[in-house]
Amino acid sequence: MSNLRSDVSPRGLFVTFEGIDGSGKSTLLRRAALWLTSCGIAVRVTHEPGGTPFCDAIRGIFLDPQWGEVDGTVELLLVFASRRQHLLEVIDPALAAGEVVLCDRFTDSTLAYQGAGRGVARERIDQIDRIATAGRRPDLTLLFDLPLGEAERRMGAAERGGHDRLDGENRAFAARVRDGFLALAAAEPERVRTIDATESLAATTSAMKKVLGAALGLAP
Ligand code: TMP
Repeated sequence: MSNLRSDVSPRGLFVTFEGIDGSGKSTLLRRAALWLTSCGIAVRVTHEPGGTPFCDAIRGIFLDPQWGEVDGTVELLLVFASRRQHLLEVIDPALAAGEVVLCDRFTDSTLAYQGAGRGVARERIDQIDRIATAGRRPDLTLLFDLPLGEAERRMGAAERGGHDRLDGENRAFAARVRDGFLALAAAEPERVRTIDATESLAATTSAMKKVLGAALGLAP
């Protein structure tokens, strides 16, 4: 398990779901999985940080509010430790088996949260990324975008101010993260497809199906 498949073209398709907290991406990912499965496609659903028991243990440390403020580079190292193991153990084997991998967050989240949000330099992120993943990117990324106020409204009072360590961050942080995601989409519009998530769940689901269906050659 020491090599990543960066030099081998995957047979499956690696699709990631991104967005700020409250964007609805996880609900949409579940809907995508149900839809693709009903079309007879082998789907692997997974998430970051996490995706294996070991990586979920890293996630537990990463998100535990008891640790309070943690240095951005330490966060970077934690998410990439999880990411490398997750790629080796789950993502690459699934792609090699021809599955469509639907992953809730990946390196774009690191660029948005640790980069744009925390201010960790892009050069430093790329350096660790090269070591951990050989600069691996998904085949397709669905970015569910909506204004902060709407995301907050959806998360509701129960989640606001939150249960995980990053939920405690302020509005300015969340605004930088959203802008970070939008900058990534602007830089790579072919891979990162922005989907307007302000509409109803039904409308967003149908927009998502269009993009995903086109990538997989399916009728929406
Ligand atoms: P989730 O709420 O989508 O499960 O993600 C957990 C939190 O972890 C979320 O606030 C975003 C954050 N995160 C990072 O800060 N960097 C990363 O690389 C990833 C994958 C997530």
